[in-house]
Amino acid sequence: MLIAGNWKMHKGPVDTREFCARLRARLHGFDGADVIVCPSSPSLHDAIGMLAATEIGVFAQNAHWAKEGPYTGEVSPWMLKDMGVGGTLIAHSERRQLFGETDESAALRVEGSLDAGLHVIACIGETEGEREAGETENIIRRQVEAIKTVVEDENLERLAIAYEPVWAIGTGRTATPDQAEEAHKLIKRLLKVPVLYGGSVKPENAEELLSQPDVDGALVGGASLEVESFAAICEAAARV
Ligand code: PGA
Repeated sequence: MLIAGNWKMHKGPVDTREFCARLRARLHGFDGADVIVCPSSPSLHDAIGMLAATEIGVFAQNAHWAKEGPYTGEVSPWMLKDMGVGGTLIAHSERRQLFGETDESAALRVEGSLDAGLHVIACIGETEGEREAGETENIIRRQVEAIKTVVEDENLERLAIAYEPVWAIGTGRTATPDQAEEAHKLIKRLLKVPVLYGGSVKPENAEELLSQPDVDGALVGGASLEVESFAAICEAAARV
């Protein structure tokens, strides 16, 4: 089981140090699941330092595909690797919806991070309109196939997919365990990697979602911003 906390654009370096100190103490001795936090870029350095002596991993929230070059404002996955980042979150739906991420650019970013030696959590998921139009399966297939084309077999063990239905992100509306299971089963038929569920995961619903046979972990937004709720989700993962 893998539980990843996506902090989005929250927690600067000061809050990050405080949060990591408390998380470290709270999860001391915990080994029931792999735990990752994804701070925003200015806080990566502090998170890495604070969590260095723990098993808690630190991932960036995005990365470019090139090693270096004329890409003002972008971040090289090789530079992230150099600074001790363990992996990247790629193509979160907020990147797709608000910042023009496409299946093509998502694939390039996945490839760049894997080439740099990082782990990757690649995000996919349908919008509410797509689900209502009966397009969920087509969207999942299209998004997974785009990622699949760039992943070499030897890199598969460093890739996970996060299935995050867009209508469930930050809305308090969670996919039912059956909806999540159905999507995860399809994704795993297309690509043999762990699949995390994301979208309003909370301590109250985590155990039921994580109990589904094809749910291998969770990508947690809002509930990862508080030590207690994030730790409770990690503990739920350890119970299933
Ligand atoms: P949420 O966000 O848990 O706040 O719904 C999940 C995500 O965006 O990764």
